[in-house]
Amino acid sequence: MATFLKIVNILLCACIIVADISEGSTPTRREPNTKYRYLIFTKNPGLKLEGATVTSFVNVVGAHGGSVRCANLCIQSSECRSFGYEPSTGVCVLHNITVYDFGARPVLDTDWDYYGGDNGVEDVVDGDWILVFRGMNGIGDKIKDVWAATGLKNIPKDMDPSCYSVTGNCSYHYRSSWLDKWDSADIDKVRFNFYDNGAEVVSMTFNGTGSTKDNWYSWDRLLNNSRWTDLKSADPYHFSMAGQYNRHFFVSEGNDNKIDCGSINGWVVIIDVQKNYCRFDKESGPLPAFLYSSKNTKVSMESADVHKADVMAVFIKRKSGETV
Ligand SMILES: *[C@@H]1O[C@H](CO)[C@@H](O)[C@H](O)[C@H]1NC(C)=O
Ligand SMILES: *[C@@H]1O[C@H](CO)[C@@H](O)[C@H](O)[C@H]1NC(C)=O
Ligand SMILES: *[C@@H]1O[C@H](CO)[C@@H](O)[C@H](O)[C@H]1NC(C)=O
Ligand SMILES: *[C@@H]1O[C@H](CO)[C@@H](O)[C@H](O)[C@H]1NC(C)=O
Repeated sequence: MATFLKIVNILLCACIIVADISEGSTPTRREPNTKYRYLIFTKNPGLKLEGATVTSFVNVVGAHGGSVRCANLCIQSSECRSFGYEPSTGVCVLHNITVYDFGARPVLDTDWDYYGGDNGVEDVVDGDWILVFRGMNGIGDKIKDVWAATGLKNIPKDMDPSCYSVTGNCSYHYRSSWLDKWDSADIDKVRFNFYDNGAEVVSMTFNGTGSTKDNWYSWDRLLNNSRWTDLKSADPYHFSMAGQYNRHFFVSEGNDNKIDCGSINGWVVIIDVQKNYCRFDKESGPLPAFLYSSKNTKVSMESADVHKADVMAVFIKRKSGETV
């Protein structure tokens, strides 16, 4: 919590406006539809993005300061949406994404400053998908409880970027206000992901039409998945967020109350509480744990083929395609 508060201070209070400054020429760029647009970059000290980079320039230090030159280089590049600047070396890095793209890999690095232009941003996105929830393994808070915590609204611009990106260690789960307005959000599809060290290891896409925030995760609604060839034809006995006992987001075959733990075959489960009697329930800690079959079929949940992911995330795609 102390870390989080410190970062909020950096992001909220230490911001300075760099743009609207010129070096002889006005920092404008011609947008496709003829209008000139002024870009204002806000500085986030100590933040570096390791996601997609368009171009790097070295030693751009100029009479008016290297960050202003870097801002101008960004404005002149049609792909540039944010940039990084290292004052000690004058290195300027242009990015085609911002910190609010889920795939950006923010790292805290006191040598670098990040400059972005998206102060009005409310959502973190992955293409046209909106991030509505991001869970972190091992932090002690139950995924199920935070999912259900109506009114808890995390706002990306007030947060440590590690809490809403594909990589990053965070002490809490990110919950957007979309969960509270699910029914009126005109949702087309819902995507459920596990990531391990930044790599997507599980992806399932669901039909979101007419769903509620608690019933979209079902076999009937499953449209596709990235990993298992046997899931769509399997008709799993468990396929729900509520799951079974403390096995949430549980997808497994076979009927209830198996005493023989080794014969529980499944695809995915989130263990929120250490109460059940099987080894995968009891020895998956620290919790919550995000477990999945690493094969392309179901496996015994007690086997070594069950791997742990470090981040889980849920995205929505709206019918209108709008992100706000
Ligand atoms: C950003 O640039 C990288 C590298 O050129 C490219 O792979 C990626 O698709 C681009 N991303 C966006 C959002 O344009
Ligand atoms: C994440 O942060 C916590 C709390 O600061 C720390 O105990 C833990 O070791 C960190 N984990 C990783 C993988 O860096
Ligand atoms: C999603 O569900 C709706 C309502 O049942 C249905 O009309 C639509 O065809 C489904 N979409 C897909 C892609 O299956
Ligand atoms: C599943 O469907 C979604 C939405 O149509 C698509 O973006 C994704 O690429 C598909 N994934 C796989 C693994 O086919």
